[in-house]
Amino acid sequence: MSNDNIQAVLGESRIFPPAAEFVAKSRVDAKKMAELRAAAEKDHVGFWASLARQELSWNKPFTVTLDDSKAPNYAWFTDGRINVSYNCIDRHLEKRGDKLAIRFESEPGVVTTLTFKQLHGEVCRLANVLKSLGIRKGDRVVIYLPMSPSAVIAMQACARIGAIHSVVFGGFSAQSVRDRVEDAGARLVITADGAHRAGHVVELKKAVDEALNEGCKTIEKVLVYKHAGNQIAWKDGRDLWWQDLTAKAAAECEPEWVEAEHPLFLLYTSGSTGKPKGVQHSSAGYLLGAHQTTQWLFDVREDDVFWCTADVGWITGHSYVCYGPLSNGTTIVMYEGGPMTPDAGRFWKICQDHGVTIFYTAPTAIRALMKMGEKFPLSYDLSKLRLLGSVGEPINPEAWIWYHHVIGKDKLPIVDTWWQTETGSVMISPLPGATPLKPGSCTQPIPGIFADIVDESGELIPGLDQGGYLVITKPWPSMLRTIWGDNERYIKAYWGQFGNKYYVAGDSAHRDKDGYYWILGRTDDVLKVAGHRLGTMEVESALVAHPRVAEAAVVGRPHEIKGEAIVAFVILKGQRPTGAEAEELIKELKNFVAKSMGPIAKPDDIRLADNLPKTRSGKIMRRLLRSIAKGEEITQDVSTLENPAIVAQLAGKE
Ligand code: WT7
Repeated sequence: MSNDNIQAVLGESRIFPPAAEFVAKSRVDAKKMAELRAAAEKDHVGFWASLARQELSWNKPFTVTLDDSKAPNYAWFTDGRINVSYNCIDRHLEKRGDKLAIRFESEPGVVTTLTFKQLHGEVCRLANVLKSLGIRKGDRVVIYLPMSPSAVIAMQACARIGAIHSVVFGGFSAQSVRDRVEDAGARLVITADGAHRAGHVVELKKAVDEALNEGCKTIEKVLVYKHAGNQIAWKDGRDLWWQDLTAKAAAECEPEWVEAEHPLFLLYTSGSTGKPKGVQHSSAGYLLGAHQTTQWLFDVREDDVFWCTADVGWITGHSYVCYGPLSNGTTIVMYEGGPMTPDAGRFWKICQDHGVTIFYTAPTAIRALMKMGEKFPLSYDLSKLRLLGSVGEPINPEAWIWYHHVIGKDKLPIVDTWWQTETGSVMISPLPGATPLKPGSCTQPIPGIFADIVDESGELIPGLDQGGYLVITKPWPSMLRTIWGDNERYIKAYWGQFGNKYYVAGDSAHRDKDGYYWILGRTDDVLKVAGHRLGTMEVESALVAHPRVAEAAVVGRPHEIKGEAIVAFVILKGQRPTGAEAEELIKELKNFVAKSMGPIAKPDDIRLADNLPKTRSGKIMRRLLRSIAKGEEITQDVSTLENPAIVAQLAGKE
């Protein structure tokens, strides 16, 4: 976030206490929240143990709550046995068998629904198919599917048999599929012919074919869900139709009772190196986090219709589409396509048509829809909505106020939820019936979560009205367990910075005079582009793979809608072209990155130059590049640069 934004955010002083009407019916009011906090303060481990016993269904109860003998590789509920799909589906069958679990709308507008009973049948059928293909407990399965019930069914089916899923976002490229398959050593890919997105068909199967053509030797079969009906290539002996096999499979499948710590899934996310890391989550601890936060923060009740707009390819889609709401027996809405298709009213139309009561989305979507004007939301009946949520990046007060006023009619609470792929579930957030809101602040850590801020040397910064590095000081059940295949990287990336004492989130934060947290942005080389996390080094590696690129440096620049835009400074091999030739090459490079990583990583701006600003020891001055990218007047001292003259050229003044 830029300095201006930080000032704007910290200057925000409006407070919105929860409406009496909401408080009266909420699961957690201020008194209950204080009790929960006190209980967690007194005995943090016991606090989570009693929730785990009360909220989850176990096959074998646990006696050990927290094993910290291998810290920072913490383990929770270690001697218990559980099955996540049983908790999300089977345990609701008696009471809620005919209740809708999923209401799905495809981008072309076809609505399909599944009751918990039907979902159970579909998950069991697919689980049996997976078993018939030789997939066993602990095997990795890559899921590359449209945002549709098939994705939830595939995830739940893996969970049912103890296979470890790794969902790859449908907007990622063939190369990303290949990297993830290879890193995880996956045996099976589950994909679809295609997905609808913004009026087009995204050819998922084609990308899988491309990924598997080179490498991916561990893949034995590709299971293909017929979804968009587009033409696809077929490899006999390897490719199988989902619908053919499930039609013949039995609709009952005993859940595999796994150890609490058995990995439920891997989810690859960007860090500060060129290679995404496979964040590994557990079964029981993860589920408890997703389950409990869904209950507390979204205040779910029996008649709620919960719509989290995130794709299942992201952690938000794991925790608040697939696992948390279903574990609570809540009806979810899934929508396949883009928010602007056919127009900017689509989200609001879906809220109206499906009777959505809880709506959870990202600031980038709010800003994009805000820009289209009030006429879209005002054309639809949003009266069923009772709670709004935001996630993924800081929400600027202006967007918050619009969301509150236009969508929330000045009365709905907004939960601004801070968390990460690594934390598994929400960590810092209001509880809607208890916490007074401040636009732009994710407020306070939820009960059972202990956040703090530290200075450069890792010392806790006591007191209020202070800023520093955001850390989590106590382990929590849904924390990541490791980085797949690289525990050293896990320790180094998340604990190493301050001597393994705290979990280091990688964000900077300000704690105000009321103890409210304001997230200011990342402290590492990670960008947040339209809520998506991208490593600058990843984009740099993609660029230097182009035969004409010698060197590249990527930074973020504030962007009105996307939060951050990608700016790349590129040094070419040989002669630097100018004019039309340069423009042609820039276009080619942008498409090259989009092709290799996926459209979300396409740089907004590429500048060709003869050199990068470096210190005499060869370090690229990123701070300077960020200023140049923003078009700021360079006031920084450039005398330590090896090549001070380059600054004018990068700024386009030469
Ligand atoms: C990073 C994690 C957590 C699900 C989606 C993103 C930023 C996330 C907020 C928020 C300010 C936020 C942080 C964090 N972030 N939520 N409510 N306010 N910043 O997951 O891709 O793992 O990214 O997103 O910078 O570290 P992710």
